[in-house]
Amino acid sequence: MLGICYYPEHWPESIWAQDAAEMYGLGIRYVRIAEFAWSRLEPSPGQYRFDWLDRAISTLADAGLKVVMCTPTATPPKWLIDMYPSILPVDVKTGHSRGFGSRRHYDFSSPDYFREAMRISTVLAERYGAHPAVVGWQTDNELACHDTTHSGSDAALTAFRAWCQQHYADIDALNSAWGNVFWSMEYRHFGEIELPILAVTETNPAHQLAYRRFSSDQVVRFHDEMVRIIRAHAPGRFVTHNFIPMVDTQTDNYALAKPLDFASFDNYPLGRSDLFFAKRGAAMFKPYMRTGHPDFSSYYFDQTRGLTGKHFWIMEQQPGPVNWAKHNPRPEPGMVRLWSWVSFAHGADVVSYFRWRQAPFAQEQMHAGLKRIDNSKAAAWPEIEQLVRELALCPDLLQQQVKASVAMVSTTENQWVCEIERQGDSFNQQEVEFAWYSALRQLGVDVDFVSPEQDLTGYKLVLVPCMPVVRPEFAQRCKDSGAWLVFGPRTGSKTTEFQLVPQLAPGLLQALIPVKVLSVETIRPDCAEPLFIGQKQYQSQCWREELEVPPSCQVLAHYHDGLPAVAQHQRAVYVATVSCDDFLKALFADVLKQAGVETVVLPHDVRLARRGGLTFLFNYSAKPCKVAAPASAQWLLGSATLDGYGVAIYR
Ligand code: GAL
Repeated sequence: MLGICYYPEHWPESIWAQDAAEMYGLGIRYVRIAEFAWSRLEPSPGQYRFDWLDRAISTLADAGLKVVMCTPTATPPKWLIDMYPSILPVDVKTGHSRGFGSRRHYDFSSPDYFREAMRISTVLAERYGAHPAVVGWQTDNELACHDTTHSGSDAALTAFRAWCQQHYADIDALNSAWGNVFWSMEYRHFGEIELPILAVTETNPAHQLAYRRFSSDQVVRFHDEMVRIIRAHAPGRFVTHNFIPMVDTQTDNYALAKPLDFASFDNYPLGRSDLFFAKRGAAMFKPYMRTGHPDFSSYYFDQTRGLTGKHFWIMEQQPGPVNWAKHNPRPEPGMVRLWSWVSFAHGADVVSYFRWRQAPFAQEQMHAGLKRIDNSKAAAWPEIEQLVRELALCPDLLQQQVKASVAMVSTTENQWVCEIERQGDSFNQQEVEFAWYSALRQLGVDVDFVSPEQDLTGYKLVLVPCMPVVRPEFAQRCKDSGAWLVFGPRTGSKTTEFQLVPQLAPGLLQALIPVKVLSVETIRPDCAEPLFIGQKQYQSQCWREELEVPPSCQVLAHYHDGLPAVAQHQRAVYVATVSCDDFLKALFADVLKQAGVETVVLPHDVRLARRGGLTFLFNYSAKPCKVAAPASAQWLLGSATLDGYGVAIYR
C-alpha cells in the first residue's frame, strides 16, 4: 500500500542493501526505479549495461520489495541527441529548438525518436518483463509535462499535414470546416497547410483546435506503442502511467489512459497550489499555504480515478518542500499523513513517496526526500510510521470501492476551446470547474469525473461546468440518464469545428433546457456585480451571458439588472455566469436536494469522503473542531472531535 521512488544510480552500491532494509522496515512495499536511467543503461549506442540494474533489483527483492520498472524515455541521452538532433522539439513560441540538458527534450513527431524510444523500451521489456521481482511498469514519466505536447518542428508539420488529409480527405472540406475564406486563409492542397504558430496575430481557432487534436493524437500514438511493447514481454504485470494535472498535459487523458491497467497521479499539493492560486490574494492563499487547498488534491484524485474508472496509485507524493514552484513552503506537520489518507479515501490503492533520499546534486537538490543527504530521517518519516500503524486499523480498505452518485463531465477538448478563445482574460475553464467541484465537496458530496463518452445512468446528478463542444450522442446520454443536469457557461456553444452552433447556445441541449444565449460579455475580475437568488445577494463575475428564457422555464437566479442568470426546465438547469463560491453552494444545495443526494454540514476547513462503507474526515485547519457523525458510527481512527490537521475514519 506504500511505495517509494528510488534512484539506485544516484548512490554507491554499498548502501543499497541498507536502504532497501530500511524501506521495508518503514512499511514500504513497492519501489519505482529507472525512469531517468537511460545514460546508465546504454552509455553508448547499442552498448547496454544491465549488470547494475540486475543487482539493484535483486537487492530490493531480497529485502522483500516489489519493483515497478519504468521505460527511461523521458531523458534521451546526449549521444542520441547528437546522432539525431531533430529529436529535440521546437518551441512553438519562438520557433527555436529546445535544448539538451534537462528532460523531456523530445518531439512526439520525430520518427527517429519514436524508433529509438521503442527500441530501448523493447530491450528493457525483454530483459525484465518476466522478472519475478518486477510486478508492474510505468511508461515514460509524466508525459507532456514541461509543455512538451506541442512542437513546431518540420516533423510535426509533415505529420500534421498527413493528419489533416486523413481527417478531412478533401481540402475544400477543410477550408469550409475551418472557415478559411475569412482573411484569405484558403489552402489549395494539404501541402500548403502551416502549423498555427508564429503568425502575426491570432490564427484561426479551428486550425488551432485541429493542431491540438493532432498533437494529442501524437502523444497517444507514442504511448500506445510503448504499452503494446511492454505487454508483449511482461505477461501478468500491470502497466500504468504517472499523470500530472490533466490540464497541464494538453492531451486527451482518457485516450492516453485507455490501454493502462490503472492510472497513477503525481501529487504535489503545495507546489501545484502555489501555481494554481498564484493570482489569488493572500487572504485566500495563506491559510492553505502549507496544507494545500482542501479540495485541490482530491480534485485530481477524482479525475485520475475517472480516467480508467478504477482505483489508482499515487506514484509520487510530495514529502516536504519541493524546488520547482514559484514558492516552496514546507508542509505543516501532519500533512504528509493527511494527504496520504486523502488519497486512500478517494480511491488510491498505493501511495508512493518521491523520493527516498534528497539528491545532493543537480536540479532537485532543494527537493525534500524521506531522508536527508546525511541519511538522517526527514520530517515526513514519523508521519509515515504513524500512517503504517493506522493502515493496519483498516484491513479491508482496498476492498472498499469509491462510488459517487454525482458526476462531473470534463474533457481536454473543452479546455482547448476555452484556452484558444478566452474572450475575457479572466475566464478560466479550470477555475470554473474547480469552483463547481469545490462547492460540491464543501457540501460533503462525493464526485466522479467522467468523460462525455461514458454512460451516465445511475447518477442522480450530472454537472457539466463548461463544455462548449456538445456532440449529439452526449446530449442523448444526458437525456437517457434520467439524472438531474446542471450545465455551466459556454456549454453547447460550439460545433466540433469551432464554429458557433446555428441554433445559438446551448445548441443541442436546448432539447433539455430550452433557453437561448443571445450574447456574451466578459468583465474584469475586480468588477464583480450583484447576482440574486430571490432576495439573497451573491456575485457574478468574469463571464455573463444574456439569456432568452421561455415561459416553460423557471428563473432561479437573476443579474442586478433583473435579467435571468440561471434557468431551470424540468430536471435541467443552465447557469449563464461565473459566480462566487457561496452562490454555487446555495444553488447546488437546492439542486442536490431535489435530486435526492445527501449533503452534510461541515466546518469550513473539513472535508468528508466515502470509500465503500468507510467515511473519512479531514481537518485542513490547525484548529481542532467537532463534526456531526451518525450515532451508529464505529470509529476506526479518531473521533468526531478532529485534531488540527486531523484525520478520522468511521464505518
Ligand atoms: C515530478 C517528476 C519527478 C520529480 C518531481 C519533483 O513532477 O515526475 O521526476 O521531478 O516532480 O517534485
